[in-house]
Amino acid sequence: MAIIELENVSYAYDKSKSAQNEAISDISFKIEEGEYVGIIGHTGSGKSTLIKHLNCILKPTGGKIYIDGVDVWKDKTTVARNRQNVGLVFQYPEYQLFEETVEKDIAFGPKNLGLGPDEVRFRVSRAIKMVGLSSDLLRKNPFELSGGEKRRVAIAGVLAMNPKILVLDEPTVGLDPAGKEKILNIIKYYHRDENRTIVHVTHNMEDIARYADKVLIMNDGKILSFDSVEETFKRVSMLRSVGLDVPKIYEVFLKLKDKGFDVPLNVYTIQRALEVVKNIVERKANP
Ligand SMILES: Nc1ncnc2c1ncn2[C@@H]1O[C@H](COP(=O)(O)OP(=O)(O)OP(=O)(O)O)[C@@H](O)[C@H]1O
Ligand SMILES: [Mg+2]
Repeated sequence: MAIIELENVSYAYDKSKSAQNEAISDISFKIEEGEYVGIIGHTGSGKSTLIKHLNCILKPTGGKIYIDGVDVWKDKTTVARNRQNVGLVFQYPEYQLFEETVEKDIAFGPKNLGLGPDEVRFRVSRAIKMVGLSSDLLRKNPFELSGGEKRRVAIAGVLAMNPKILVLDEPTVGLDPAGKEKILNIIKYYHRDENRTIVHVTHNMEDIARYADKVLIMNDGKILSFDSVEETFKRVSMLRSVGLDVPKIYEVFLKLKDKGFDVPLNVYTIQRALEVVKNIVERKANP
């Protein structure tokens, strides 16, 4: 059974207008438990609108959403359970830090779940470790931290709820390469080591290429394609038609192949390219 299933979901911000004004329309897809799905698409294509439906921030104006087989809008209990099961990290989540210490900020969610003080403490110390920050920071005011640290605290607040599904809206945007890398590693950890389902919205194909299993491409409020990373990147002209691009390193390998070199085509990351080149060099050295 799919952990996330959308059936003909549509949403219009202005409900008085016609269907042409829908921000997303007729969206149907399934995500299996443990999958890492990247969502990509140009500005205004409906990515944020779509993922706000996954934890009941927005109620669809049409269609159904099932999480773990349950119609999330069935009643108050299903809505409340859904908000626990699905952790949503907003774009620029650091703007939502508001408590006077990092500890209180991370503890906010677990406290709201009604957990006891020992369990809350345990959740906070586990979450701060998961995001790679020292527990010395717990007593600090969030505003004393760097931008990247603040964002990791905000993510820790969501992880402390222990969500079965982690949804992130552009989690690396505006960070330097080192800060970005740290966030990607947190997501990878939550996916691989905690066996969780990930939905990761990004503008960056390379981010998706590294860890995602599948890619959902949004275009003008509709799904253009939903397929494995490998199958998606094969469709270079489809991607370009909606202003997206394959990772630069993949283009290099496409060109090498075009020129008659015997290279594999499933090379989307610099790291993989290095391995492939190393293999070729070794084969040449020891034929
Ligand atoms: N609060 C809102 N009220 C009215 N219209 C909105 C609102 N938020 C988004 N929209 C509209 O809905 C459509 C989809 O926007 P959405 O923010 O979901 O796109 P996005 O793919 O997340 O874009 P971006 O990459 O810029 O974050 C756009 O036409 C946008 O103008
Ligand atoms: Mg958005």
